[in-house]
Amino acid sequence: MEQQKKTIFSGVQPSGNLTIGNYLGAIKNWTALQDEYNCIYCVVDMHAITVRQVPAELRARTYETLAVYMAAGLDPEKNTLFVQSHVPAHAVLAWDLGCYTMFGELSRMTQFKDKSLKHADNINAGLFTYPVLMAADILLYQADLVPVGQDQRQHLELARDIATRFNNSYSDTFTVPEGYIAKTGMKIMSLAEPTKKMSKSDANPNASVGILDSRDDIIRKFRRAVTDSDTVVRYAEGKDGINNLMSIYSCFTGKDFEAIEREFEGKGYGDFKLAVGETVADCLAPLREKFDALMKDKKYLEDVMKNGAERANYIARKTISKVHRKIGYVGL
Ligand code: TRP
Repeated sequence: MEQQKKTIFSGVQPSGNLTIGNYLGAIKNWTALQDEYNCIYCVVDMHAITVRQVPAELRARTYETLAVYMAAGLDPEKNTLFVQSHVPAHAVLAWDLGCYTMFGELSRMTQFKDKSLKHADNINAGLFTYPVLMAADILLYQADLVPVGQDQRQHLELARDIATRFNNSYSDTFTVPEGYIAKTGMKIMSLAEPTKKMSKSDANPNASVGILDSRDDIIRKFRRAVTDSDTVVRYAEGKDGINNLMSIYSCFTGKDFEAIEREFEGKGYGDFKLAVGETVADCLAPLREKFDALMKDKKYLEDVMKNGAERANYIARKTISKVHRKIGYVGL
């Protein structure tokens, strides 16, 4: 039976604090998949160093990201949760696949272009080959499905191209992965500029709400959320700020837009924003509590990492030996 389950792979960088956008758009949905699929979730610390990191912060965030996965409800027994740098096969396969990836393909990646502008003083080779490492992440585990946001679609498309190219050059080696769009997935926008995606790397601290923000911060940020000059809480074109707040409120309460409009009939934006802030804070409180407890037990987190790395290594080694045989390396 176990064999028939499809494999899902995804990764989150341990850089910056995870936002409610990451939570609603990704992690929260993952918990619903843990029985139906063979799920592998990776903390991609090797991707994080494509931009400069403060070592102590990178280390702390690696623990934190794992703890957030678990606090959000991902069971480390049911899912393989691990840290990328603990499985050397990622770097090995990335080298191999780099020789099946064209300079032109990597040059066309929009994220590379964006990041080169943003980090003009550090346009390193890793930033350029980042999508090859991501392809290696996915292909190592023969993933069928990869839940990624819109901003990663181009990278996933490249991973499919690399897999197909390799399979055609030799014989079937890699599963060609598909994107996975969660049914309930939501794109959460910035609170400061609601036409832009909420991002953990936004320079404006009021633009994004962290999963681990304090109750007061959460409520304050929602109070300050940019809306419009209308006064009625309703979902409509052009009301990007209100639409975004309604989406967030809907995700956390399960209420549909009509119910929300009725609930706030005759009330102003102030009341609505306060209700959203309080609801989000209330809903995140149990996650925060679990997170705090997990962070107090580093030993347990390290046990989870070790166990996850062992499971991941086992699968990854099988793929590597298959790939190396096909390429023509001498196996011993
Ligand atoms: N590049 C992804 C991001 O920044 C993170 C990532 C790395 C990833 N490897 C992956 C996502 C493999 C999905 C699958 O969001």
